[in-house]
Amino acid sequence: MEERLIMDLVPGLEGIPAAESAISYIDGDEGILEYRGIPIETLAVKSNFIEVAYLLIFGELPDRDEYERFKSDVTYHTRLKLKILRMMEWLPENGHPMHYLQAVTSAMGMYYPARDTLDEEVRYWSAVRLIAKLPTIVAASHRLKHGDEPIKPRNDLSFAANFYYMLFEREPLPLVERILDTMLTLHADHTMNASTFSSRVVGSTLADPYTIVSSAIGTLSGPLHGGANEEVVRMLAEIGTKENVRPYIEARLERKEKIMGIGHRVYKTRDPRGEVLKGFIEELIAHKDIDSGVFELSKEVELVVAERLTGKNLHPNVDFYSGIVFNGMGIPTDLFTPIFAMGRVAGWLAHWMEQLKTNRIYRPTQKYIGKRKEPYIPMEERKRATAR
Ligand SMILES: CC(C)(COP(=O)(O)OP(=O)(O)OC[C@H]1O[C@@H](n2cnc3c(N)ncnc32)[C@H](O)[C@@H]1OP(=O)(O)O)[C@@H](O)C(=O)NCCC(=O)NCCS
Repeated sequence: MEERLIMDLVPGLEGIPAAESAISYIDGDEGILEYRGIPIETLAVKSNFIEVAYLLIFGELPDRDEYERFKSDVTYHTRLKLKILRMMEWLPENGHPMHYLQAVTSAMGMYYPARDTLDEEVRYWSAVRLIAKLPTIVAASHRLKHGDEPIKPRNDLSFAANFYYMLFEREPLPLVERILDTMLTLHADHTMNASTFSSRVVGSTLADPYTIVSSAIGTLSGPLHGGANEEVVRMLAEIGTKENVRPYIEARLERKEKIMGIGHRVYKTRDPRGEVLKGFIEELIAHKDIDSGVFELSKEVELVVAERLTGKNLHPNVDFYSGIVFNGMGIPTDLFTPIFAMGRVAGWLAHWMEQLKTNRIYRPTQKYIGKRKEPYIPMEERKRATAR
């Protein structure tokens, strides 16, 4: 047997492989992201989210019949049960949408039992339901929070257009529909990040898929994972005007503060997802029905940052552009991370299924640094150096 001696603790498991995976590939130096070997830029232009979800989960692009069946299965499972909607009505109005999403996803496990995760049919239908219902939950929770009736999904609309319709009770402009769909594709997978790891760990216990996805949603809700795009919008609101961009950036750098949406741990030359979104900014500016103010502002930020941070290999990341694009399309800021989850669910499900193929329950070790063989001191004799 191969001898393994891994005694050094690696904080955050940085650089430690946690699984063998054939789902997505990143080359940070070259700025490459591929799903099942296909570059993200190609998928963003030629494919759509439903097809990308199929590709990630089942490993290959679907043929026409497979695509139509998967699309129709997802489309016809977008509705929420009345009891689930009733349950949502009782949730607090000031709750964060990620809490709603996690709670309702978890509750779905009681309505659609899927405990036998080794059964292929169970896996297929739970994947279909999760992809289909996450947008309905996000839209319904947003409307309920604002005192509005949830809107029933429309099967005649595309996946992205239906989500927009359930949020705003009107159909999106074709450009907005295309961008929303691409946004889901761009967020659908990103190798072994924290929420994906979470889905593999929970999946390795043979827990049901609703529990797995709700755990991944909880992991994504932390500000160190999802959420940088919300910060970008806050920053742009603080900047306010084009004239204020330079003084604002200068002052922030002076205080040694990071500029939100700039730089990336992995992508050191370009973030390919950001590049795709950057292309949309020009289209949004050119569109006569869309206010271009925030896009003009973002271009100025990009310009000043490039000038001020030249030589540091820092570039706008996906969150920079997604924050701006969402904001410019009128998407409420607290829905950015839930929309991220609507796309990433495809990756979580793909990783769960891949995990099951060669499953071994995750059981890492620890480096114990606590005391040993301590006496038990009776309560009346316990003294603390400092009071708590
Ligand atoms: C993403 C991030 C954590 C990557 O950090 P990192 O890998 O540690 O970055 P590096 O250490 O390679 O940074 C190199 C240099 O650029 C600086 N830098 C990195 N990101 C910066 C930013 N957003 N604004 C200003 N300076 C930045 C660092 O301070 C460092 O400067 P130094 O060499 O003078 O010490 C960081 O860029 C950041 O916090 N960005 C803003 C938040 C954000 O957009 N997060 C979403 C990521 S998808």
